[in-house]
Amino acid sequence: MKTLVVLGAPGTMGRRVVALARRELEGVEVLAASRRGTAVGDARGLALDLHDRAGLERALARGDCTVVNTVGPFDYDPTPLVSACVASGSHYVDLAETPAFLAAVARAAREAGAAERGVVLVPGASTTPGLVELLAQAWAERPEVTGVDAWLSLGSRNPLGTGMLLGLLRPLGRDDDAGARWFRGTVTRPGGDGRRYGRYPAGFPAEGLRLGPRSVPVRFFVGFDRALLVRGLSAAAPALAALPDRALARVARVALPAARAVSRLGTPRGSLVLEALGAPGARVEVVAEREGLDVPAAPALWVASTLQRGHVRARGCVALRDVVPLAEAAARLRGAGRVVRGIEP
Ligand SMILES: NC(=O)c1ccc[n+]([C@@H]2O[C@H](COP(=O)([O-])OP(=O)(O)OC[C@H]3O[C@@H](n4cnc5c(N)ncnc54)[C@H](OP(=O)(O)O)[C@@H]3O)[C@@H](O)[C@H]2O)c1
Repeated sequence: MKTLVVLGAPGTMGRRVVALARRELEGVEVLAASRRGTAVGDARGLALDLHDRAGLERALARGDCTVVNTVGPFDYDPTPLVSACVASGSHYVDLAETPAFLAAVARAAREAGAAERGVVLVPGASTTPGLVELLAQAWAERPEVTGVDAWLSLGSRNPLGTGMLLGLLRPLGRDDDAGARWFRGTVTRPGGDGRRYGRYPAGFPAEGLRLGPRSVPVRFFVGFDRALLVRGLSAAAPALAALPDRALARVARVALPAARAVSRLGTPRGSLVLEALGAPGARVEVVAEREGLDVPAAPALWVASTLQRGHVRARGCVALRDVVPLAEAAARLRGAGRVVRGIEP
């Protein structure tokens, strides 16, 4: 790989991906792509719209590129972007979390003949579904595990962008697949540290998470370090769910300065805890004392560096767990200063 194109580079997650890429990928040019083409740090800016297939093909014609798509919320049609990547032989990674977007990437990749052309696409290479599924492989050989509960607690002192705030607010109060409502009511994690959480969509297809050769259901809980914030979001959920998407986007833009001001009262500490159902005490835990948003940004770089080393045998649209081994992910998290429990060093 000669070039890493980070789409949405000036955004909150994009900046992190660019910074990690500058640190971790030697001999690779990092381009900061967005509609305005703003440079990020010492990464050159590139004006590019992910809906403009012809523009994308021109930009990727330089060859030997990997594209990391951080442009959220992931509610658009990825076909022009995926088609341009496959046509130019560029690999593709994104931070998407919605099953509909992940399925659309897989479909577009198939239709463009990605596997036959030797192109690798890894959608969902972020906390969920990618990292949750990868960490759960700690129990791949344990048939007694019947399901996985994932608990993500965000440190509210972490910086927030519009895309992330909108992505976070959008599911609140809406119907889940079982006819209940996301984030109605809050809970604490049994045996946990007292932080509060609400149920949240996990980004997996209906059959759940792949655990070795089988699939098991996943429940995903999201919360913050401040109980008042979680209770406030739960109380606001019905009103937020009643808003059309445009109005919700306006709410996210207007609420961003307030969210940033309130965040000064929070902590930077975040954690992701996976509990195995059917195997009492089986738990995997990742704790970030600071810079917690580097955790969802990092898996895209794990994929890019594995591709750079030529270590990816899979072709076409695959999951993070097909590209990065569990032991390597744990080592990389530890190397970045995260506490990882429940996975042997
Ligand atoms: N799966 C997970 O676990 C996970 C975890 C963390 C975050 N995320 C997701 O990551 C996403 C990123 O959010 P964020 O807060 O970093 O975003 P953001 O700060 O709002 O930034 C969006 C960036 O994308 C660019 N952009 C917007 N439309 C574009 C287009 N059509 N073509 C090219 N560039 C475009 C914008 O710049 P211009 O205006 O100049 O184009 C901007 O730089 C969110 O959707 C969030 O849900 C997922």
